Amino acid sequence: MNKKNCYDHPVYYELAFSFRDIPYEVGVIQHTIKEFSRCEVRSLLELACGPSQHMIELSRHGLQFEGLDINQAMIDYSKEKAKAVGIDAIFHKQSMAEFRLERQVDYVFIALGDLYVRSNEELKSHLCSVASALRQGGLFLLDWCIQFEPAKMFKLEGDSWEVKKDDIHLQAHVVMKPFDHPHQLFEEQLDIEVKDRGDSLSLSSYSVKRAIYPQEFLALIKNMGQFEFIGWWNNWSLDKPLLASTEDIFRPITLLRKL
Ligand SMILES: C[S@@+](CC[C@H](N)C(=O)[O-])C[C@H]1O[C@@H](n2cnc3c(N)ncnc32)[C@H](O)[C@@H]1O
Repeated sequence: MNKKNCYDHPVYYELAFSFRDIPYEVGVIQHTIKEFSRCEVRSLLELACGPSQHMIELSRHGLQFEGLDINQAMIDYSKEKAKAVGIDAIFHKQSMAEFRLERQVDYVFIALGDLYVRSNEELKSHLCSVASALRQGGLFLLDWCIQFEPAKMFKLEGDSWEVKKDDIHLQAHVVMKPFDHPHQLFEEQLDIEVKDRGDSLSLSSYSVKRAIYPQEFLALIKNMGQFEFIGWWNNWSLDKPLLASTEDIFRPITLLRKL
Protein backbone atom coordinates (compact mmCIF):
# COMPACT_ATOMS: atom_id res chain seq x y z
CA MET A 1 0.00 0.00 0.00
CA ASN A 2 1.25 3.51 -0.85
CA LYS A 3 1.84 5.45 2.34
CA LYS A 4 0.73 9.06 2.58
CA ASN A 5 2.86 11.86 4.04
CA CYS A 6 2.22 12.44 7.79
CA TYR A 7 2.66 16.17 7.32
CA ASP A 8 -0.24 16.32 4.87
CA HIS A 9 -2.49 15.00 7.68
CA PRO A 10 -2.03 17.51 10.51
CA VAL A 11 -4.94 16.19 12.60
CA TYR A 12 -3.37 12.75 12.98
CA TYR A 13 0.14 14.15 13.34
CA GLU A 14 -1.07 16.44 16.13
CA LEU A 15 -2.80 13.59 17.91
CA ALA A 16 0.26 11.33 17.62
CA PHE A 17 2.41 13.99 19.35
CA SER A 18 -0.19 15.07 21.90
CA PHE A 19 1.69 13.33 24.74
CA ARG A 20 3.38 16.64 25.63
CA ASP A 21 2.28 18.71 28.62
CA ILE A 22 1.85 21.97 26.70
CA PRO A 23 0.77 24.21 29.63
CA TYR A 24 3.84 23.02 31.56
CA GLU A 25 6.17 23.70 28.60
CA VAL A 26 4.69 27.15 28.08
CA GLY A 27 5.23 27.75 31.82
CA VAL A 28 8.92 26.90 31.31
CA ILE A 29 9.10 29.27 28.31
CA GLN A 30 7.63 32.01 30.49
CA HIS A 31 10.14 31.25 33.22
CA THR A 32 13.03 31.60 30.72
CA ILE A 33 11.60 34.96 29.62
CA LYS A 34 11.36 36.23 33.19
CA GLU A 35 14.79 34.99 34.15
CA PHE A 36 16.94 35.41 31.03
CA SER A 37 15.53 37.78 28.41
CA ARG A 38 16.98 41.26 28.09
CA CYS A 39 14.12 42.74 26.08
CA GLU A 40 10.39 42.92 26.47
CA VAL A 41 9.07 39.66 25.01
CA ARG A 42 5.81 40.09 23.12
CA SER A 43 6.22 37.78 20.11
CA LEU A 44 7.39 34.20 19.63
CA LEU A 45 8.31 32.44 16.39
CA GLU A 46 8.10 28.64 16.25
CA LEU A 47 10.26 27.12 13.50
CA ALA A 48 8.97 23.93 11.79
CA CYS A 49 5.76 24.69 13.67
CA GLY A 50 3.66 21.92 12.09
CA PRO A 51 0.22 22.07 13.76
CA SER A 52 1.45 24.77 16.19
CA GLN A 53 0.71 22.81 19.32
CA HIS A 54 1.91 25.57 21.70
CA MET A 55 0.11 28.41 19.90
CA ILE A 56 -3.12 28.60 21.90
CA GLU A 57 -1.41 28.35 25.29
CA LEU A 58 1.25 30.93 24.31
CA SER A 59 -1.45 33.32 23.10
CA ARG A 60 -3.32 32.83 26.36
CA HIS A 61 -0.22 34.25 28.04
CA GLY A 62 -0.24 37.32 25.81
CA LEU A 63 2.42 36.29 23.28
CA GLN A 64 1.91 37.03 19.59
CA PHE A 65 2.46 33.69 17.84
CA GLU A 66 4.30 33.36 14.55
CA GLY A 67 4.82 29.98 12.90
CA LEU A 68 7.19 29.01 10.08
CA ASP A 69 6.90 25.78 8.09
CA ILE A 70 7.52 24.52 4.57
CA ASN A 71 4.34 22.47 4.41
CA GLN A 72 1.21 24.27 3.19
CA ALA A 73 -1.19 21.72 4.77
CA MET A 74 0.38 22.36 8.20
CA ILE A 75 0.18 26.14 7.73
CA ASP A 76 -3.46 25.98 6.59
CA TYR A 77 -4.34 23.76 9.55
CA SER A 78 -2.60 26.12 12.01
CA LYS A 79 -4.34 29.13 10.47
CA GLU A 80 -7.74 27.45 10.82
CA LYS A 81 -6.95 26.54 14.42
CA ALA A 82 -5.99 30.14 15.20
CA LYS A 83 -9.11 31.48 13.47
CA ALA A 84 -11.38 29.08 15.36
CA VAL A 85 -10.31 30.54 18.71
CA GLY A 86 -9.87 34.15 17.52
CA ILE A 87 -6.06 34.28 17.65
CA ASP A 88 -4.32 36.74 15.37
CA ALA A 89 -1.33 34.54 14.45
CA ILE A 90 1.14 35.10 11.62
CA PHE A 91 2.50 32.30 9.41
CA HIS A 92 5.47 32.12 7.06
CA LYS A 93 5.94 29.46 4.38
CA GLN A 94 9.73 29.24 4.27
CA SER A 95 12.52 26.82 5.07
CA MET A 96 14.10 27.08 8.50
CA ALA A 97 17.47 26.40 6.80
CA GLU A 98 17.33 29.93 5.40
CA PHE A 99 14.56 32.40 6.11
CA ARG A 100 13.93 36.12 6.38
CA LEU A 101 11.25 37.94 8.35
CA GLU A 102 10.09 41.48 7.69
CA ARG A 103 9.87 42.23 11.41
CA GLN A 104 12.06 40.83 14.17
CA VAL A 105 10.56 38.66 16.93
CA ASP A 106 11.47 38.50 20.62
CA TYR A 107 11.69 34.72 21.07
CA VAL A 108 12.46 31.80 18.73
CA PHE A 109 11.52 28.23 19.58
CA ILE A 110 12.10 24.81 17.98
CA ALA A 111 10.07 21.93 19.45
CA LEU A 112 10.87 18.24 19.71
CA GLY A 113 14.16 18.10 17.81
CA ASP A 114 12.76 19.61 14.62
CA LEU A 115 15.97 21.25 13.44
CA TYR A 116 15.96 20.32 9.74
CA VAL A 117 19.45 20.98 8.37
CA ARG A 118 21.55 18.58 6.31
CA SER A 119 24.99 20.17 6.17
CA ASN A 120 27.39 22.61 7.86
CA GLU A 121 26.31 25.31 5.41
CA GLU A 122 22.62 24.82 6.22
CA LEU A 123 23.33 24.81 9.95
CA LYS A 124 25.22 28.09 9.64
CA SER A 125 22.61 29.72 7.42
CA HIS A 126 19.90 28.54 9.83
CA LEU A 127 21.70 30.14 12.80
CA CYS A 128 22.33 33.35 10.81
CA SER A 129 18.62 33.45 9.87
CA VAL A 130 17.62 33.06 13.53
CA ALA A 131 20.12 35.74 14.54
CA SER A 132 18.70 38.25 12.08
CA ALA A 133 15.08 37.36 12.96
CA LEU A 134 15.65 37.78 16.72
CA ARG A 135 15.72 41.07 18.56
CA GLN A 136 18.75 41.91 20.69
CA GLY A 137 18.27 40.44 24.17
CA GLY A 138 15.68 37.93 22.86
CA LEU A 139 15.91 34.17 23.45
CA PHE A 140 16.32 31.09 21.25
CA LEU A 141 15.09 27.84 22.82
CA LEU A 142 15.92 24.47 21.25
CA ASP A 143 13.97 21.46 22.49
CA TRP A 144 16.26 18.44 21.95
CA CYS A 145 17.86 19.32 18.53
CA ILE A 146 21.34 18.63 20.02
CA GLN A 147 22.42 14.98 20.19
CA PHE A 148 23.74 14.77 23.75
CA GLU A 149 23.36 10.98 23.96
CA PRO A 150 23.59 9.57 20.41
CA ALA A 151 23.72 5.93 21.47
CA LYS A 152 20.27 6.29 22.98
CA MET A 153 18.80 8.33 20.15
CA PHE A 154 20.04 6.00 17.47
CA LYS A 155 18.86 2.76 19.06
CA LEU A 156 17.95 0.19 16.41
CA GLU A 157 14.40 -0.50 17.52
CA GLY A 158 13.38 3.18 17.70
CA ASP A 159 10.35 4.18 19.79
CA SER A 160 6.72 3.11 19.52
CA TRP A 161 3.62 4.45 21.20
CA GLU A 162 -0.17 4.38 20.93
CA VAL A 163 -2.78 7.09 21.22
CA LYS A 164 -6.53 6.61 21.52
CA LYS A 165 -8.97 9.48 21.39
CA ASP A 166 -12.71 9.19 20.76
CA ASP A 167 -12.99 6.82 17.78
CA ILE A 168 -9.42 7.33 16.58
CA HIS A 169 -6.65 4.86 17.35
CA LEU A 170 -3.06 5.61 16.30
CA GLN A 171 0.09 3.53 16.45
CA ALA A 172 3.24 5.55 15.90
CA HIS A 173 6.83 4.44 15.42
CA VAL A 174 9.91 6.60 14.95
CA VAL A 175 13.43 5.40 14.25
CA MET A 176 16.60 7.42 13.70
CA LYS A 177 19.51 5.78 11.94
CA PRO A 178 22.95 7.29 11.22
CA PHE A 179 24.07 6.56 7.65
CA ASP A 180 26.88 8.99 6.78
CA HIS A 181 29.22 9.30 9.75
CA PRO A 182 31.74 11.82 8.33
CA HIS A 183 28.91 14.23 7.52
CA GLN A 184 27.03 13.35 10.75
CA LEU A 185 23.86 12.55 8.81
CA PHE A 186 21.03 10.42 10.11
CA GLU A 187 17.67 9.46 8.69
CA GLU A 188 14.46 9.77 10.63
CA GLN A 189 11.54 7.56 9.67
CA LEU A 190 8.14 8.21 11.23
CA ASP A 191 5.23 5.84 10.60
CA ILE A 192 1.71 6.32 11.90
CA GLU A 193 -0.99 3.67 11.45
CA VAL A 194 -4.41 5.27 11.78
CA LYS A 195 -7.75 3.68 12.48
CA ASP A 196 -10.41 6.35 12.33
CA ARG A 197 -13.84 4.84 12.84
CA GLY A 198 -14.12 2.40 9.90
CA ASP A 199 -11.17 3.80 7.93
CA SER A 200 -7.51 2.74 7.99
CA LEU A 201 -4.66 4.92 6.81
CA SER A 202 -0.88 4.43 6.73
CA LEU A 203 1.14 7.62 7.08
CA SER A 204 4.86 8.06 6.96
CA SER A 205 7.55 10.68 6.70
CA TYR A 206 11.24 10.40 5.95
CA SER A 207 13.79 13.11 6.71
CA VAL A 208 17.54 13.45 6.73
CA LYS A 209 19.12 15.57 9.45
CA ARG A 210 22.66 16.54 10.36
CA ALA A 211 23.43 15.49 13.93
CA ILE A 212 24.64 18.34 16.14
CA TYR A 213 26.86 17.50 19.07
CA PRO A 214 27.06 19.72 22.16
CA GLN A 215 30.65 20.93 22.05
CA GLU A 216 30.63 21.66 18.30
CA PHE A 217 27.41 23.61 18.85
CA LEU A 218 29.04 25.74 21.57
CA ALA A 219 32.11 26.32 19.36
CA LEU A 220 29.92 27.37 16.45
CA ILE A 221 27.89 29.76 18.60
CA LYS A 222 31.08 31.29 20.02
CA ASN A 223 32.58 31.72 16.54
CA MET A 224 29.48 33.38 15.17
CA GLY A 225 29.52 35.99 17.93
CA GLN A 226 25.75 36.55 17.59
CA PHE A 227 24.45 34.56 20.55
CA GLU A 228 25.35 34.05 24.17
CA PHE A 229 24.98 30.53 25.57
CA ILE A 230 22.71 30.63 28.64
CA GLY A 231 22.43 26.96 29.54
CA TRP A 232 21.07 23.48 28.91
CA TRP A 233 18.80 21.44 31.13
CA ASN A 234 17.34 17.95 31.20
CA ASN A 235 13.71 17.14 30.44
CA TRP A 236 12.40 20.72 30.34
CA SER A 237 13.43 21.25 33.99
CA LEU A 238 15.26 24.49 34.73
CA ASP A 239 16.37 23.00 38.05
CA LYS A 240 18.19 20.15 36.25
CA PRO A 241 21.20 21.59 34.38
CA LEU A 242 23.00 19.02 32.24
CA LEU A 243 26.11 17.97 34.15
CA ALA A 244 28.84 15.35 33.77
CA SER A 245 26.80 13.21 36.16
CA THR A 246 23.49 13.55 34.27
CA GLU A 247 22.19 10.16 33.20
CA ASP A 248 19.28 9.38 30.97
CA ILE A 249 19.12 12.54 28.95
CA PHE A 250 15.58 13.01 27.68
CA ARG A 251 14.15 16.05 25.92
CA PRO A 252 17.01 18.37 26.93
CA ILE A 253 16.45 22.07 26.26
CA THR A 254 19.15 24.56 25.26
CA LEU A 255 18.83 28.32 25.62
CA LEU A 256 20.71 31.08 23.75
CA ARG A 257 20.36 34.84 23.99
CA LYS A 258 20.87 37.22 21.06
CA LEU A 259 23.78 39.59 21.63
C1 LIG B 1 7.43 16.46 12.99
S1 LIG B 1 6.56 17.97 12.50
C2 LIG B 1 6.72 18.81 14.02
C3 LIG B 1 5.94 20.01 14.29
C4 LIG B 1 6.24 20.72 15.58
N1 LIG B 1 7.65 21.09 15.68
C5 LIG B 1 5.85 19.90 16.79
O1 LIG B 1 6.71 19.67 17.64
O2 LIG B 1 4.71 19.48 16.89
C6 LIG B 1 7.79 18.58 11.55
C7 LIG B 1 7.41 19.82 10.77
O3 LIG B 1 8.61 20.35 10.23
C8 LIG B 1 8.33 20.85 8.95
N2 LIG B 1 9.60 20.98 8.23
C9 LIG B 1 10.39 20.01 7.73
N3 LIG B 1 11.47 20.55 7.16
C10 LIG B 1 11.38 21.89 7.30
C11 LIG B 1 12.18 22.99 6.91
N4 LIG B 1 13.32 22.81 6.26
N5 LIG B 1 11.76 24.22 7.22
C12 LIG B 1 10.59 24.44 7.88
N6 LIG B 1 9.78 23.43 8.26
C13 LIG B 1 10.16 22.17 7.98
C14 LIG B 1 7.35 19.84 8.37
O4 LIG B 1 6.64 20.38 7.29
C15 LIG B 1 6.49 19.53 9.59
O5 LIG B 1 5.38 20.35 9.66
